[in-house]
Amino acid sequence: MALTFRLNGEEVRIPDADPSATLLDWLREERGLTGTKEGCNEGDCGACTVMVTGAHGSKALNACILFLPQLNGKSVRTVEGAAGPDGSLHPVQQAMVDHHGSQCGFCTPGFIMSMVTAHANGATDFDDQLAGNLCRCTGYAPIIRAAEAAQDAPVPDWITRDRPVEPGIQPLLPQSADELADLYQEHPDATLIAGATDVGLWVTKQLRHLPKMIFLDGCTDLKGIEITDSTVRIGAMADMNALRAAMEPLHHSLAEMLRRFASQQVRAAATVGGNIANGSPIGDTPPALITLGATLHLRKGNSRRELPLEDFFLDYGKQDRQPGEFVEAVCFPRQPDVLKVYKLSKRFDQDISAVLGAFSVTAENGQIAAARIAFGGMAGIPKRAAHVEAALIGQPWNEATIQSAAAALDQDFTPMSDMRASAEYRLETARNMLWRYYAEQSGQPVSVLGVRP
Ligand SMILES: Cc1cc2nc3c(=O)[nH]c(=O)nc-3n(C[C@H](O)[C@H](O)[C@H](O)COP(=O)(O)OP(=O)(O)OC[C@H]3O[C@@H](n4cnc5c(N)ncnc54)[C@H](O)[C@@H]3O)c2cc1C
Ligand code: FES
Ligand code: FES
Repeated sequence: MALTFRLNGEEVRIPDADPSATLLDWLREERGLTGTKEGCNEGDCGACTVMVTGAHGSKALNACILFLPQLNGKSVRTVEGAAGPDGSLHPVQQAMVDHHGSQCGFCTPGFIMSMVTAHANGATDFDDQLAGNLCRCTGYAPIIRAAEAAQDAPVPDWITRDRPVEPGIQPLLPQSADELADLYQEHPDATLIAGATDVGLWVTKQLRHLPKMIFLDGCTDLKGIEITDSTVRIGAMADMNALRAAMEPLHHSLAEMLRRFASQQVRAAATVGGNIANGSPIGDTPPALITLGATLHLRKGNSRRELPLEDFFLDYGKQDRQPGEFVEAVCFPRQPDVLKVYKLSKRFDQDISAVLGAFSVTAENGQIAAARIAFGGMAGIPKRAAHVEAALIGQPWNEATIQSAAAALDQDFTPMSDMRASAEYRLETARNMLWRYYAEQSGQPVSVLGVRP
C-alpha cells in the first residue's frame, strides 16, 4: 500500500507499506527514530505518544497501536521534531528542564509530545491531558508545573506549520461512507479499522495477522455529531473526545464518565462505532446509549436498517451484524437530562470498567412514570435491567421502592467473577449505584471528580 504523510515537517512517501505495521515499529526500525519509546505496546503507558495533525486538528496518539495507513495525508511529529530546526527547545521542553520534570527519562518523550499537543490546542486541564502518560519515578507535580509554566508561551512556528498533505488515494482507504459501503460489500472478509484501539492489540499482543484491512479514517462523513431539536445523531467514526464535548451540555454525567474512558490518547482515536461493534460486555458507551433509547443504524451496500441498540447485542461475542454490514451511526432522541452514568473501575483514569451503570428515571407527581436502566460488566453483553425497571415503574419515588427494585437486580443478572471484580461485588455495587442515583435525584449530588485525596 502506498502512503504519503509528513514526518517532522518533511513529506514522506512509502511505496509499499505493510498495512498492519504500527507507526512505533516503523519509526524505530525503519527510520531509526528511537526517541519514541516502547513501554507496554498496548496503549496504556503513553511512552510512544506522538502528535498527529489532520483536517480536524492535532491529537496526541499512541504510536504503538496506530497502523501506518491511519496516517495517510496527515502530519506526524515525534519527539525528535519537538525542538525547532535550529535546535531551539519547544517551550514545554524548556519548562521540563526548568522544573526538573524528568529523572530516568524513559517516559519523558511521551510526556513531551502530550504536552506539545496540549500546548498547540490551548488545553490547560493537565491532570486530564497527561493521564495517559505514566511516570514511575519523577512524580507528577514537577511535570504539571512544567506544563503550567509553558502554557502561555506562543506556539512555535514549526508546530503551527504542521498540516495535512494530499493523501495518495488507496483502494482500502475509502474516503466516504458510500465508498466504504461498496468496498466492504466487495470484501466482506476484511477487518474494518476505525481507531484501532482494540484491533491494534490483536496485532501487538495476540500477534494476529490481518490479511485484509479497510481503514475508515478517511470517511469524514462518518465523523459528525448532529444535534437537532429532536435528535442526536452520532457518526460511527466520532471519537470519544468529540462525543465527550458534544455530551457536555446535553448529558453532563455521560461527559464526566467519558473523561474516565481510557486516556486522552486513546479517546482521541477510539470511536463510538468501534465501541459498539466490538460487542464488548464492558464497553463504556453502550449502556449509556441504551438508556438514552438509542437506535443503531447499520448499512450494507445501499441498504440500511435500524434497530434498538440493545437488540444488537445477541450474546457474548455475537452481534446482529451481517457480513459486509457496518455501523453508520447511532441516534437517540433529545430528552430532559435525567441520565446518570456511573463507572466503577480499580483506577480513576485509564481503566476498563468492572461495572458501569446508566440510569434514567422520570417521576411525575411523585410516581415513577418511566425508567430505563442498563449495565455493562454484569452479563456477557451490555444489558437492560428489565426487572429493576418493572419494579420501579408506577411506584412512588421513595426509599421503599428503591429497596425492592434493588432486590430485583438478582433476577436480571448473574455476573461472573474475574480479575476485575467478584460476582458478589458486582451485584452489590450495581445495587449501590441505584441507591446513588436515588440520592442524586433527591438532591444529594456526588461528582466523580469530587473524590480527591
Ligand atoms: C489503553 C486502553 C484503554 C481502554 N479503555 C477503555 C475504556 O475505558 N472504556 C471502553 O469502553 N473501552 C476502552 N478501551 C477499548 C477501546 O478503546 C474501545 O473499545 C474503542 O471504542 C474501540 O474503538 P476503535 O475505533 O478504536 O475500534 P477498532 O479497534 O478500530 O475496532 C474495534 C472493532 O469494531 C469493528 N468496527 C470498528 N468500526 C466499525 C464500524 N463502523 N462498523 C462495523 N464494525 C466496526 C472493528 O472491525 C473491530 O472489530 C481501551 C483500549 C485501550 C487500548
Ligand atoms: S508503548 Fe505504552 S502506550 Fe504505546
Ligand atoms: S522519569 Fe522515569 S519513568 Fe518518568
